[in-house]
Amino acid sequence: MAEIINGKIVSAKIREQIARDVSDFKTAEGRAPGLAVIVVGDDPASAVYVRNKHKACLEVGITSYQIEFPASISEEELLFKIDELNRDESVNGILVQLPLPKHINESAVINRIDPKKDVDAFHPENVGRIMIGDYSFLPCTPAGIMALLDYYNVTVEGKRCVVIGRSNIVGKPMALLLLERNGTVTVCHSKTRGILEICREADIIVVAVGRKEFLKADMVKPGAVIIDVGINRGADGKLVGDVAFEGVSAVASMITPVPGGVGPMTITMLLQNTVTAARMQKL
Ligand code: GUN
Repeated sequence: MAEIINGKIVSAKIREQIARDVSDFKTAEGRAPGLAVIVVGDDPASAVYVRNKHKACLEVGITSYQIEFPASISEEELLFKIDELNRDESVNGILVQLPLPKHINESAVINRIDPKKDVDAFHPENVGRIMIGDYSFLPCTPAGIMALLDYYNVTVEGKRCVVIGRSNIVGKPMALLLLERNGTVTVCHSKTRGILEICREADIIVVAVGRKEFLKADMVKPGAVIIDVGINRGADGKLVGDVAFEGVSAVASMITPVPGGVGPMTITMLLQNTVTAARMQKL
């Protein structure tokens, strides 16, 4: 049976350190680092994520500003708010919860955020920096996965790594980070041919496709390390990952569960990026 990679435990350890860093920042600066989260409309999943982010900020002592707009807000009004937050010195990090309503251009919004406050690392300047390995922030999910691999002493160098999914938020930056650690990286997606054979060669597989139990036991080499980024709802309403956990955990050496694997790490990395941003801005 595979060892469980416990994101709750790793997350709690890292958050203890973040709370100490926040406290030191407060002592030095007379105020806590601040994170502004903007949510547009009333998507229920977004509401849950935003609530969890707010709670996590309070737990480590980061000041959290939650800004809610109706789905009818114009792009112009949203950009105006971002300009205001860019100027506000008490706000060190800005996050606009995605997805946005269709009438708002997501790139225009992301591009408007000051790259120094872009704690999601979605701005083209930060994306470019990651490409060349000269970055201050990493996108939260891939950063959280690297922290998990490090905590469990999983070396990447020389390993065959397969990333399934090529989103800007997870798949693409994940592939770059594994490459930076000298992994041999293959990115698979919906048009990939022979995915079964490709996965069977992998020492490390990161699955971020958003399809219930996509990765099956017969796609996994014995002893492989499996990272499941999926958050899907099963027919019974329970959370299900992109990995068929029961079968795959009989073959793999290590595996992340859903929930309790990658999920808790994502918010932890957001907190860490906020502290990093606050420190950078006082320089
Ligand atoms: N929606 C789903 N994941 C994310 C994320 O990491 N950041 C933002 N801003 N929106 C999201």
